[in-house]
Amino acid sequence: MDDLDTALGGDLRTVVELASLAPSVHNTQPWRFTWDGSALTVHEDPERSLPVLDPTGRERRISCGSAVLMARLAFAELGYSVATELHPWSAADPYRLATLRVTGRAEPSAEDAALAEAIPRRTTDRDPFDARPLPAELLAALRAAAEQEGASLHVLGDESTSATVELQVLLSHADDSQRADPAYLEELARWRRDREAEGIPARALPSVPAELRGSSWRLRDFASGETSAPAGGHEPPIPEHPMVVVLMTGGDGPDDWLVAGQALGRLLLRAAVDFVAAQPLTQVLEVPVLRARMRHVLGGVGHPQMLLRLGYGHAGPTSRRRPPEQTVRVVPPGA
Ligand SMILES: Cc1cc2nc3c(=O)[nH]c(=O)nc-3n(C[C@H](O)[C@H](O)[C@H](O)COP(=O)(O)O)c2cc1C
Repeated sequence: MDDLDTALGGDLRTVVELASLAPSVHNTQPWRFTWDGSALTVHEDPERSLPVLDPTGRERRISCGSAVLMARLAFAELGYSVATELHPWSAADPYRLATLRVTGRAEPSAEDAALAEAIPRRTTDRDPFDARPLPAELLAALRAAAEQEGASLHVLGDESTSATVELQVLLSHADDSQRADPAYLEELARWRRDREAEGIPARALPSVPAELRGSSWRLRDFASGETSAPAGGHEPPIPEHPMVVVLMTGGDGPDDWLVAGQALGRLLLRAAVDFVAAQPLTQVLEVPVLRARMRHVLGGVGHPQMLLRLGYGHAGPTSRRRPPEQTVRVVPPGA
């Protein structure tokens, strides 16, 4: 039987390393993998849950979906053709998400190669973006990326409209209510990790504290209670006008969350190909009553899954990942 280093002549390790570079809520990396000699199965790891922020596991599943997308592209880049089966949610095996069966060798398409090449460059950028607007062609490509995976993209733009102002208010309400919840703060603090291969390290936090930012979109304060703004004498904040988009799905069940995760992965990589970075602003999606209001503001059709700000950033230091030894189990064929 294979082990991690002999599987696919060593390529399995690379696939899992690239899949693990997917974004995940609080960098929880809520996935695990099994390899049976010809197929990689991606599972959710319920041990890596956020019961306060994400009691339904929606964001956990989105995170895993984006790891599935990265794994698909990693296989393609390494010259494998793969048949991907998404497993519909079942009570009997609720955490089995997708099986990627290697069916042969194939040259990657130019698009897959470009997206896969961007996997190590994609990081969440929490700093202010440059004022440069995003080209219309890129927005069209991001829309197409979401649609290719079965989701859709609602572009709010970078201007103040009544809908954006309403969403900014909802986001601030959500953030206020989370900050007032000791259980939320305690959970967040547990995932602030500087020396471990998981969680959010100080180096991935914004260099400018949230209260000194000219952002109308409330940013999650990962350093809650750890830092305070320097006293007085600072420059007035520079107004920020990021491009803000909402990733939507038609339904809102576990299978839709898996779709949303793959769409998120593809659109973030498509942005990274053009050196455009993103930061999720998901507090408003974590307070059910405010998420329902958000859906209404967006027209009531479809379900919002991710709110993201996008722009030209300054690729900075990144968060770490657990090594494949901790996430992959080699099992007998067909297991
Ligand atoms: C479902 C989901 C929700 C997230 N929500 C936020 C958020 O509200 N604010 C934020 O700054 N980052 C958010 N992130 C980004 C993660 O914190 C980030 O992906 C993780 O720390 C790994 O870092 P990386 O994206 O730089 O690789 C979210 C990511 C996912 C997948």
